[in-house]
Amino acid sequence: MIRLRTSVPCVRHFPAGSTPLLLALLVLLCIIYVFNVLPSRTLSANSDSLEDERQPNFQAPANFANVRVHKPQEIIEDEHVRKTENLKETKRLPQRVAMGPCPPVYGKVTVFVAMIKSSYERFYHVAQDSLKCYLKSVNYTLLLVDLDSDERVNKECGHTQLFFKKHCAAAAYLRDTDWMLVLDADTGVVNPNHCIEEWIDPRADLVFYERFFNWEIASGNYLVKNTPWATKFLKKWADWQYEQPSNWNGADNGVLQIHVLQSVMPEARNEIKICDQVWHKGTGYDTYMAYVTCCKLALGATRLWPGKVRLLRRAHGWVRDGYLSGDKWCQRDFMLHGWKLNQTEIQGWQSPYKQMFKVEECGSGESGWHWREDYRVSEDEIRKSLANFEKGAGANFPKEARIHPYLSEGDIGDCWPHCDDFV
Ligand SMILES: *[C@@H]1O[C@H](CO)[C@@H](O)[C@H](O)[C@H]1NC(C)=O
Ligand SMILES: *[C@@H]1O[C@H](CO)[C@@H](O)[C@H](O)[C@H]1NC(C)=O
Repeated sequence: MIRLRTSVPCVRHFPAGSTPLLLALLVLLCIIYVFNVLPSRTLSANSDSLEDERQPNFQAPANFANVRVHKPQEIIEDEHVRKTENLKETKRLPQRVAMGPCPPVYGKVTVFVAMIKSSYERFYHVAQDSLKCYLKSVNYTLLLVDLDSDERVNKECGHTQLFFKKHCAAAAYLRDTDWMLVLDADTGVVNPNHCIEEWIDPRADLVFYERFFNWEIASGNYLVKNTPWATKFLKKWADWQYEQPSNWNGADNGVLQIHVLQSVMPEARNEIKICDQVWHKGTGYDTYMAYVTCCKLALGATRLWPGKVRLLRRAHGWVRDGYLSGDKWCQRDFMLHGWKLNQTEIQGWQSPYKQMFKVEECGSGESGWHWREDYRVSEDEIRKSLANFEKGAGANFPKEARIHPYLSEGDIGDCWPHCDDFV
């Protein structure tokens, strides 16, 4: 006997012979299920804000203290793995000491913030003033570019969607510098005792990091070197405005996943094609995330493509989301992301500062930095917050996005016997 299985999860286990009352209850539950699962988040590509409104959709586990935290020294290493691989630790510049000099070892560094005047005037003062206060203690150049009125940008970038125009604008100004740190306007400095060079990887042209709550390569903040390859990368990224699929696609952040994959691994034609297909099927955030998973699996564990891209792990970049630790910070932290408000102490947000900045106070040592002392915590405490948060992020990762692309889509059927021709 052949038994048909229904694919609707709510009614799959519907018992035979139940009363109509039970049936009505199940239908009600199905409706609630559907409405909870349907996307409530959107990216407003045409709004006047350049900042991504995506927030994690879960509560962190309440039993905070029970989360087991691995300290680096507790990681058990396999003898065989250690012996066969003679790994050298990545060389990184040491942390800035006592607000001392930031030697220009990688040449001229420019901080680039794209904005729209109307929203820049209403929001982001805390973040932007912290950035200005920081910049008074170093020798970097600040470029505040108004995407609507900037002459060079309007000449070189005809893009109508701000998310995309921003990357074209960055490309347009890249030629004036050696390295550029592109920042969202809601990224602020929490600990000025760092140099940007600490995160520059001279082996790559672009440095990206992954968004903490969903493992997506983040598009808002990145480091880029003035090279032809990087300039082309940025321009092409911007030009995706004209090619992007018309469904729920994650705007420039969605584009970035496949753009990185295609740029660093062009020979992975089949994987690129499959991820593109998954991308076109997105109907909301949860299904869009299946595409992010697809690209991430194709990129694998590689973190550096020499001369191209360095991909930093979550919370290993110069910036992380502030809400991961309730805006608390430790000496490792440099910048926090997500400070949209104009003032400290409004709308229930305190910020790590007990008063607004007076940028004229800044410049020497820690003068001008009025921290709330209880926001400055140990590395252990931050690691606990991150471990707690990542548990929640994993547990609440959308079901629709837990895919194995080669199992669901195959990787031979469409191209055999030529699937390996471009390796
Ligand atoms: C900025 O440049 C000046 C002049 O080259 C130098 O003396 C100073 O130490 C630099 N400051 C920092 C923070 O690097
Ligand atoms: C935002 O804050 C700045 C500086 O504190 C102030 O000049 C501006 O008027 C504020 N704007 C709004 C809309 O609150």
